[in-house]
Amino acid sequence: MKIDQSRLQKEIDSLALITEAEPPVVTRVLFSEADLRGRAFVKNLCREAGLVLREDAVGNIFARWVGLEKNLPPVVTGSHIDAIPNAGKYDGVVGVLGAIEAIRALKKSGFQPKRSIELIVFTAEEPTRFGIGCLGSRLLGGVLSSEKAAQLKDRAGKNLEFWRKRGGCKGKLASVKLPKNFYSAFVELHIEQGPILEREKISIGIVEKIAAPSSLRIYLTGVGGHAGATLMPGRRDAGLAGAEISLAVEHAAKNSGSADTVGTTGIFRIEPGAVNSVPCRAYLEIDLRDTQVKTRDAALKQIEKAARTICKRRGVKLEMERVNVDPPAICDAALVKTISEICRAEKISSKIMISRAYHDSLFMAEVCPTTMIFIPCFKGYSHRPDEFSSPAQIEKGAHILAECLALVASR
Ligand code: GLV
Ligand code: MN
Ligand code: MN
Repeated sequence: MKIDQSRLQKEIDSLALITEAEPPVVTRVLFSEADLRGRAFVKNLCREAGLVLREDAVGNIFARWVGLEKNLPPVVTGSHIDAIPNAGKYDGVVGVLGAIEAIRALKKSGFQPKRSIELIVFTAEEPTRFGIGCLGSRLLGGVLSSEKAAQLKDRAGKNLEFWRKRGGCKGKLASVKLPKNFYSAFVELHIEQGPILEREKISIGIVEKIAAPSSLRIYLTGVGGHAGATLMPGRRDAGLAGAEISLAVEHAAKNSGSADTVGTTGIFRIEPGAVNSVPCRAYLEIDLRDTQVKTRDAALKQIEKAARTICKRRGVKLEMERVNVDPPAICDAALVKTISEICRAEKISSKIMISRAYHDSLFMAEVCPTTMIFIPCFKGYSHRPDEFSSPAQIEKGAHILAECLALVASR
């Protein structure tokens, strides 16, 4: 079985040119023109590979290599092709295009799967459009109800119904949820997005746990006015309340008692946005994660308490919303062992590790036994245009994925 490294790299490079930004920057927000073209590109590769395509009501794409025993739960792999603003070309993409190449390599080798092997291209792993990550897999796993999903709105006030129609999705959102054990296993190939594998010169990471993400939205309303004529003592500056809340996020994450707590105020907008005007409104989105729920939840409460105190003191109206508060996912020990053994047999170095980033795997773990295969990336850079994994590293990842799919599909 041979992975065609140069074909895979060419496909990664071609998909990277389908972007809302100026290449090499990749931005592909859910159901934007670029995302729709990216989906068409991937679907075309799936068709060429002889896979049977279907799409669900939220736009998750399923591409199946039908196995000899059609009634057995399939083995599934996949990731996402949507990309946050100012991203690189590997996050998610390696797990989608790498899986297509793994399937092509298995087909070419003459392998016949007993169980069907399926690829899923998940809708909106990234939270850019609706503020919540893993939209497609949350619905598949039943972690997000169709009623809640239908209420999601983007920055312009356009709801999921609008966008999924635009994306050509058909059917009811309630039909997306999969029954438990619909699949026999899920394995996602992904770049590590952290520095450990590169630093330790290890080719493959095998994920045993995915850290617990959470996020908050904060709307602040103060009183605006003339920057020259409004004296400092009377001000109710929404921007400064937001600035203090951002510092409280940093403080809570740094002092949680766990080195694994990370807090980020990734969105901070002020209005009206004029140099000579006191900010009357501010909008913040806060991302808080940890490998342990206990310290994450304590930090979350501390941030919420700090926001209330700050706003009271500054006379700023506070509206706060928990967008998601998820537990960590524990990966399937038997799958982790299987991949460790494959790596050993292939003489490829591997390490069992934790994923600090979240992934669709977090929610696929609700459907079936799940794990992930990580490959190193340059300095651990991710969510930035200089994200990089070498063709040789990607080849190893796709190779191990192919071996794993073949083994699990034969059981
Ligand atoms: C995924 O993109 C994450 O933010 O972890
Ligand atoms: Mn990402
Ligand atoms: Mn990703």
